Amino acid sequence: ADVLVLNGPNLGRLGVREPDVYGSLSFADLVERCESWASEAGLSAQVRQTDNEAEMIAWIHEAVDAGSDVVLNPAAFTHFSYAIRDAAAMITKGGHHLVEVHISNPYAREEFRHNSVVGGIATGTIAGFGFDSYRLAISAIAALRK
Ligand code: DQA
Repeated sequence: ADVLVLNGPNLGRLGVREPDVYGSLSFADLVERCESWASEAGLSAQVRQTDNEAEMIAWIHEAVDAGSDVVLNPAAFTHFSYAIRDAAAMITKGGHHLVEVHISNPYAREEFRHNSVVGGIATGTIAGFGFDSYRLAISAIAALRK
């Protein structure tokens, strides 16, 4: 795939989990949307979700080895996982693109969400636009690849 769209813990529960914050659409809906946004941009995308830090790190390694660009919603890992940051740093150091995305705007929420350990190694971050954060991230990657 040109772009791996990787999602961290609890995002498989979209639609049921805090719909006031994350909306009422499901993870399956997100997958469908990301696939069609990518194909509209002329890109192939693969969308995945895991609750497991080791699995997420393995997927990031896979993206590095394949030279794929990555849209990453690290979910709660955003705020504390140096292991995810170190893995993700290989994407941008290797000359590929990494867009950190969030459905909600973490800066408008609890204090512990105000820091991202991933943001400093990302190409850029898009947060607060609901599922559209992913659309904007995919279109940013398409523009960068031109
Ligand atoms: C999130 C924001 C994080 O703070 C939170 O832990 C999530 C989802 C978002 O997409 O808004 O699980 O990454």
